[in-house]
Amino acid sequence: MKRKLIAGNWKMNGSLAANEQLLKAILAGLGQPVCQVAVGVPAIYLSQCQTLLAGSAIELGAQDISAHESGAYTGEISGVMLKEFGVRYVIAGHSERRQYHGETDELVAAKVQRALGCGITPIVCVGETLAEREAGKTDEVVKRQLAAVIHANGHCISEIVVAYEPVWAIGTGKTATPDQAQQVHAVLRAQLKAASANADRIQILYGGSMNAANASALLAQPDINGGLIGGAALKAQDFLTIIAAAA
Ligand code: 13P
Repeated sequence: MKRKLIAGNWKMNGSLAANEQLLKAILAGLGQPVCQVAVGVPAIYLSQCQTLLAGSAIELGAQDISAHESGAYTGEISGVMLKEFGVRYVIAGHSERRQYHGETDELVAAKVQRALGCGITPIVCVGETLAEREAGKTDEVVKRQLAAVIHANGHCISEIVVAYEPVWAIGTGKTATPDQAQQVHAVLRAQLKAASANADRIQILYGGSMNAANASALLAQPDINGGLIGGAALKAQDFLTIIAAAA
């Protein structure tokens, strides 16, 4: 198994001044991290963050990627463009993009394919809504979402990162319990194993109100290999505490 990965997802937050302050504070407290660390920043700040993170142990991530290579796709950003700004990771299929931007399982799978083709590691998000959980459909939903990615990417899926993000836990302060999260992570691991001989080294992150107080218990689960952190990634001390919990 690889080292754990703690990735921040800043979502649509930040400013030139705030980003500089946040990254400088994180870098000042980071030392030599024992886990992998990344921040997923708004595309317009990639250049700024690339400069601020140059030579550091923190890798740069983007929050979305076009499924197209280039051309007449107003507003979209290609994998090749992301690569020019030192992007190592891209979040694909975050529930907010599925929910507010109509991203389907197939589109997410195509974005994953595009990222892999550009040498960018996609962090593929899957997760059920509260209604789906209450209807007993959690496993079915996450397996369907992941199956589309496996189907489109074949053996290359050993190069992806998966993030289990229950929609009901995102930004709500309601975290999945370590047992609830582990159960779903085990389902995802089994699905990955059926598709790839190298599934043991695929990192499966948990995301959804992970914070400085609950990170250790979640990260202690056997199939939780890191975290995708929203709100707590915007506070340097909280993000550093979560990184330390991944030791
Ligand atoms: P919160 O940590 O704010 O719940 O967000 C989680 C998330 O959506 C990360 O991608």
